[in-house]
Amino acid sequence: MFICVMFVNMSENSFNVKEILEFYIMSGVDETCGDVAFLQHTEVKKDSDEIKNKPVISSSNIHIALDAKKAVESANAICENVITIEDLKKIVENFEGCSLKSTALNTVIGDGNPSAKIMFIGEAPGADEDRIGRAFVGRCGQLLDKMLSSIGLNRDNCYICNVLPWRPPGNRTPSDSEIAVCLPFLKKQIEIVDPDIIFALGAVAVNTLLDYAESISKLRGKWLEYKTSKGKIVHVMAGYHPAYLLRTPAQKAKAWSDFLRLKKKLEEN
Ligand code: URA
Repeated sequence: MFICVMFVNMSENSFNVKEILEFYIMSGVDETCGDVAFLQHTEVKKDSDEIKNKPVISSSNIHIALDAKKAVESANAICENVITIEDLKKIVENFEGCSLKSTALNTVIGDGNPSAKIMFIGEAPGADEDRIGRAFVGRCGQLLDKMLSSIGLNRDNCYICNVLPWRPPGNRTPSDSEIAVCLPFLKKQIEIVDPDIIFALGAVAVNTLLDYAESISKLRGKWLEYKTSKGKIVHVMAGYHPAYLLRTPAQKAKAWSDFLRLKKKLEEN
């Protein structure tokens, strides 16, 4: 897979869009990573390179924000009476408020035991999860399974899900609106599973859950708290995402120490 951010220069006629697209396809691009085009404006002053190279924030971006607000309301509304993970999966599959769904092959809701006392939250399905329709089944999932088994856990005694039920194209970082629109689905899963402990895999998971904006290296390994819609306090620990550990194996020692703290907490509960 090869991805490219497409820059369209409207002010010069040396290429047209069709030619540019043909050039990208010939170069091996087979995936786009966003649905908002970056336009170089025709009206910008020729002598201002700084302005000229900035993506244009057009009024369509503002509409996206307003649409996201409506989509959040709609996601909250459709979740209201859902009481099982199977029913949640059905309503999320039919939800039309997030454009990620249109590029994904499958809607990926959580995997594992919906009555577990421990829940793991990742970021979003990757290519394998999108193809198979199950959370954490690719290389990251295999590492996660090994990490779980090292402290006596497996998919029969824990629940594993993601902040987003759809794969962002090219595994790009999800936008704030995509996260906001999908948050009701994550919160509903927490309400249904009703865990005592949540382990957040990576910065997106912990920052979304706790509404923080902090680096994972600052947050990892500490006991934090999440208050559910019913007022229950759930113990939360964040740790490195398996994808990061695959890229940076030297950090596995810290991941191991986080998992040992998690194991201790599970034994106390
Ligand atoms: N990465 C995630 O965050 N979730 C998955 O399901 C797979 C990879």
